[in-house]
Amino acid sequence: MQRDGALTSIWQHNMPEYIPQTHTLTDEVFDVIIVGGGITGITTALQLQKAGKKCILAEAHTIGFGTSGGTTAHLNTFMDNSYAQIEKDFGEDNAQLVATVAREALDLVKKNIKEYNIECEHSEQPGYLYSQDKNQTKELDEIYHASQKAGCEIHYEDKIPLPIDFIKAIVYERQAQFHPAKYFYALAKAFEDADGVLLQGCRITGVHEKGDHLEMESHRGKIQARQLIYATHIPPGVNLLHFRCAPYRSYVMAVKLKDDNYPDALAYDMYDPYHYYRTQEVDGKKYLIAGGEDHKTAHEGNTNECFRKLEAYLMKYFKVEEVSFKWSSQYFQSTDGLPYIGHLPGTPDNIFVATGFGGNGMTYSHVTALLLTDLIANGKSRYEKLFDPNRIKPVAGFENFVREAADVVAKFIADRFTNVKIHELVELAPGEAKVVKYEGDTIALYKDENGGLHAVNPACTHINCIVGWNTAEQTWDCPCHGSRFSMDGKVLTAPARKDLEKISLTDLTP
Ligand code: FES
Repeated sequence: MQRDGALTSIWQHNMPEYIPQTHTLTDEVFDVIIVGGGITGITTALQLQKAGKKCILAEAHTIGFGTSGGTTAHLNTFMDNSYAQIEKDFGEDNAQLVATVAREALDLVKKNIKEYNIECEHSEQPGYLYSQDKNQTKELDEIYHASQKAGCEIHYEDKIPLPIDFIKAIVYERQAQFHPAKYFYALAKAFEDADGVLLQGCRITGVHEKGDHLEMESHRGKIQARQLIYATHIPPGVNLLHFRCAPYRSYVMAVKLKDDNYPDALAYDMYDPYHYYRTQEVDGKKYLIAGGEDHKTAHEGNTNECFRKLEAYLMKYFKVEEVSFKWSSQYFQSTDGLPYIGHLPGTPDNIFVATGFGGNGMTYSHVTALLLTDLIANGKSRYEKLFDPNRIKPVAGFENFVREAADVVAKFIADRFTNVKIHELVELAPGEAKVVKYEGDTIALYKDENGGLHAVNPACTHINCIVGWNTAEQTWDCPCHGSRFSMDGKVLTAPARKDLEKISLTDLTP
């Protein structure tokens, strides 16, 4: 299984490529096209197909290539945005709705596992949240009361399953964990078995209205559908949501412990960013999976430093024998703390989106499947208003506003530099990269392990912000809306659809 970075997640271990059934596109008009083959797209496609809609799922790379292959797969009914905050911002009734739909989402996971007989090591677990200072303890009490009012099964507990000092702890009952890749591979197969069409290597490059339906241009040819869902983390184009969602990266390690003291629960501290813990068995071996050190994408100079800090934190509390896997992944945080699931603002009525899941992608992916299936198959959902992406109204001239607000780079002038100039310009060790300025132009340079230089225009092909180098994952990441590119500029992550412009390096004298 492939992912969007140089590091390998624990879920990729011994996971082969997913091989979809072959399909030749015709002029058939599908009911729904789902763009994005992560857990959100796959689960939603299957639900819609089961509801009688003829669906096609288009994934630009391979399924699970993005965040779904790099999640830590915590299934929670409580969110990064606490119930105390949700109650304050959206009211008690809406806090109850969030708790209700989160429980329905976790139940849908269980239902799918049962219906398709999926072996994905799913187990229900208690989820511990614990405080470590006075302020956190006050906040924990508020969270407890709001969670109880919202309908969560919750209680105080006088111990936690981690060797870490704490003051107070609460436990959410019936949270869960699983092996995400085994789960979404099985759902992808179920979708195809139910006559759904799954295309990998199929990037959607354009969408046009054509009569009563939409026509998509793609790497595999034209695709027609009556409805479209973007399950790509953030939609392409320039949209209100690009201004209402910020990309973040989180860092994870799967470690073996010397003393076998693995937690038999999910656990979270209350720092910002917080640390999160669980145990996973893979091929008969146990691992502690722990994460944290989150930051806004491309806002950290050396991402290896995030792993160093995480490892030091784990070493302080656990008897770490070996770091077996480490990886990072990306998520989008909405400005008001709830995701945007529903009609995509500023587009025709038949285009939908799901984004802004924060660290709760496993739960909100299934909320999306429930909500959008109801909306598309039955015309309404109990939850559509709560998660409506149009809850914030666009302002006139919004697109220009976004462009102006972004830290954009001037139009690139030169597209050719000499090797001599480049070498004069920057000393790079193999595996290193840098964005450098030269005679008014900005160049993104990467030196590969064989000493070969790769130069690209650092202007992100979304709306021209300057990308930064992600040392750990060996990618060019955009700080504005989270597009990511390989070291030689190939687009890995939306909203960009085009590769970074390559710059020729030549031995000719200028
Ligand atoms: Fe929007 Fe790069 S400018 S993702």
